[in-house]
Amino acid sequence: MCGIVGYVGPQSALDVVMAGLKRLEYRGYDSAGVAVLADGQLAAAKKAGKLVNLEKELAERPLPAGWTGIGHTRWATHGAPTDANAHPHLDNAGRVAVVHNGIIENFAELRGELMERGHELTSETDTEVVAHLLAEEFSATADLAEAMRLVCRRLKGAFTLVAMHADEPDVVVGARRNSPLVVGIGDGEAFLASDVAAFIAHTRSALELGQDQVVELRRDGVTVTGFDGRPAEARAFTVDWDAAAAEKGGYASFMLKEIAEQPKAVFDTLLGRIDAEGNLTLDEVRISASELREMDKVVIVACGTAFHAGLIAKYAIEHFTRIPCEVELASEFRYRDPILDAQTLVIAISQSGETMDTLMALRHAREQGSKVLAICNTNGSTIPRESDAVLYTHAGPEVAVASTKAFLTQLVACYLVALYLGQVRGTKWGDEVRAVVRDLAQIGDAVERVLGTMEPVRQLARSLADRNTVLFLGRHVGYPVALEGALKLKELAYMHAEGFAAGELKHGPIALIEEGLPVVVVVPSPRGRSLLHDKIVSNIQEIRARGARTIVIAEEGDEAVVPYADHLVRIPPTPTLLQPLVATVPLQVFACELATVRGNAVDQPRNLAKSVTVE
Ligand code: AGP
Repeated sequence: MCGIVGYVGPQSALDVVMAGLKRLEYRGYDSAGVAVLADGQLAAAKKAGKLVNLEKELAERPLPAGWTGIGHTRWATHGAPTDANAHPHLDNAGRVAVVHNGIIENFAELRGELMERGHELTSETDTEVVAHLLAEEFSATADLAEAMRLVCRRLKGAFTLVAMHADEPDVVVGARRNSPLVVGIGDGEAFLASDVAAFIAHTRSALELGQDQVVELRRDGVTVTGFDGRPAEARAFTVDWDAAAAEKGGYASFMLKEIAEQPKAVFDTLLGRIDAEGNLTLDEVRISASELREMDKVVIVACGTAFHAGLIAKYAIEHFTRIPCEVELASEFRYRDPILDAQTLVIAISQSGETMDTLMALRHAREQGSKVLAICNTNGSTIPRESDAVLYTHAGPEVAVASTKAFLTQLVACYLVALYLGQVRGTKWGDEVRAVVRDLAQIGDAVERVLGTMEPVRQLARSLADRNTVLFLGRHVGYPVALEGALKLKELAYMHAEGFAAGELKHGPIALIEEGLPVVVVVPSPRGRSLLHDKIVSNIQEIRARGARTIVIAEEGDEAVVPYADHLVRIPPTPTLLQPLVATVPLQVFACELATVRGNAVDQPRNLAKSVTVE
């Protein structure tokens, strides 16, 4: 989720672009850069690290004054956060500059073709290929908008592109597919940005570009076409948010924004992982297939929500690979003197990539000779850097302390690793892998459907604002979902909550059940392992007979639970192992609403930090 700004008009392009990037600072980033057009020449500056590093660079080596410019803050997906990988990217002649948000799935193929035609590419990014392709097309069309249309028709994946060419000094061109881009219309000036926060200081008159559209900005107006060159309509609107609201995309909190971003986060995490033959390709996994075939055990280490993702991953890894998988709290792991060797694959799951407990656990594992694969959302952070391989989630920056979209993308990444291990070890045939990947590809829409039915969950949460305790029950992959639902309620609503394996109830916890006690029950699909389903329906009957107020999360069409559910929350049917991807969402919404009605700081709960860098 990078930040993009483009400008053409009478103001200093550098000033407008830098101020816009500052407004997009909340989007998180690991590098930043700008380019301006002055006297027929392109001048660019880019630096790894925070925006302040770029500001220092510009203070030491100012760019010439120009009135056309583009800028970018990068949240790395392909290529570490370095100066060379920072945007903008230029062609070899330095006549084209481009910035990009998204993932170009076929960049490797395009890169190879360009190098065969003599282009020299110097970064590890997918974006750089676009600068060279635009230069080629422009040399034939002498029209940047047309060049952009021709290039976009060759790209696969999700992308927002903004570019300029030294031969067209008062023009900025943008394009989008599956990634946001908005236009600001000023008086004799025009803006492009990832979101309106970047230009509402100048204008509140905006256009939202549609799918597969190209926009050409000039001082006297904008022209919008499809990738095919035919005129197209972009939705005009007036921005009525203030800057703070704009950073949250109009949501009341980053937490709500990030819950809503989950369908796209799931979609983006799957992008670029399937090759032309439909097989899984986890190109960042630098542990060889032969080494992976030698593994006889998997150990997952993580904390908090990431630990819950690991608990769910265990079911998938053991099911797909038939090798044992242990899941360990990172803070306990190395103190129990675990049995580790070169045949143990350790998977470290971390959103921030800086959690000290998890970092120390993986260091211990590597000292014992084990290979470590990191699943991480923050490119270039410490945990992936100290691992043998990494699979990045593409949730984009997660600002709210309570993890939501990172959790869902951790699950997606865990399923992909489990499938990859099965594919490499031959315990999963290609068609079986492709079938699961097809199911995963439907999950984004399923999550979207759940998000559209959450008003009764919010009303229920508000009705429980004065409660002190909520219990959560689940079986199989629903048990870690129960743990995650309890954690969300603890860290957001400051309410006592506890998750249990439903089968464990009769071994003690059922003594907690009393009249009116709210108990959330995550019900497995009746289509899967019906034994599990029947048993949890019995559990619901048991607690209801003792006065519990049952809040049942169950699949559409599951009628067996209806007589015992005081509140019934429906989720779309999914394959058994994938149910956590949809069952977790109502629990996130429930906890967030309870925290809100209690007046808590939803994005920054008390006593918590987004990244726990102490043991
Ligand atoms: C989850 O909502 C919490 N913010 C916390 O449990 C978090 O998952 C844990 O601290 C691990 O963080 P990491 O994923 O950045 O390693």
